[in-house]
Amino acid sequence: MGRKFVVGGNWKMNGDKNQVTDIVETLKKGPLDPYVEVVVGVPAIYLSYVKSIIPDSIGVAAQNCWKVPKGAFTGEISPAMIKDVGANWVILGHSERRTIFGEKDELVAEKVAHALEQGLKVIACIGETLEEREGGKTEEVVFRQTKALVPAIGNNWANVVIAYEPVWAIGTGKTASPQQAQDVHASLRNWLSTNVSPDVANSVRIQYGGSVTAANAKELAACPDIDGFLVGGASLKPEFVSIVNATQ
Ligand code: G3P
Repeated sequence: MGRKFVVGGNWKMNGDKNQVTDIVETLKKGPLDPYVEVVVGVPAIYLSYVKSIIPDSIGVAAQNCWKVPKGAFTGEISPAMIKDVGANWVILGHSERRTIFGEKDELVAEKVAHALEQGLKVIACIGETLEEREGGKTEEVVFRQTKALVPAIGNNWANVVIAYEPVWAIGTGKTASPQQAQDVHASLRNWLSTNVSPDVANSVRIQYGGSVTAANAKELAACPDIDGFLVGGASLKPEFVSIVNATQ
């Protein structure tokens, strides 16, 4: 079976009640390709509200969570809470979490393990910085970040999507070329085949993220190892519909 194209909109810390209502209205109008899985990554405070107005066919993701079910962790939310308000996904390990909030591979792995245990689906983000790319370390970094996730995921790969987001392409308007993205996706799949299993390598979906727009989505979507997108800025705009439909 082929890998179902999956497009996530990561709203990050943007929007207010009016704007998120407008985005949901735009998605409802679509039309969205029914063969594409769509997930929106919503600020925690609006999860419950968005879940109440969005069609069930669109997944709702939190943008972070903590690694235990409950307790004295001021400011955090747990996977159990995310599920309690009806959302079923969480984005973990985003480069903004890693760089701004100091999340290391180990912590990301612990969060991934707990989120999966609690029955959430996970978009796990990886990607190199500009300095790492220019130093020829892209594969080393991406493999290291993925390796940390392997024991955390165990045999739960069906509930995981990997998002490859080169940090230098995030919010910069500088997209990886289709060839650059395809090369990393292919070598990651190869790594997964050797280090996890050929089955996982063939079935896991790898999204590309980093300045995806309606203008570049089709070309990127045509690459054989790109199975979807994780979209930041453009997911707040009506062009997100065209990005979802990029394989049409
Ligand atoms: O998670 C999506 C992301 O980091 C890409 O952001 O604004 O470059 O599409 P943007």
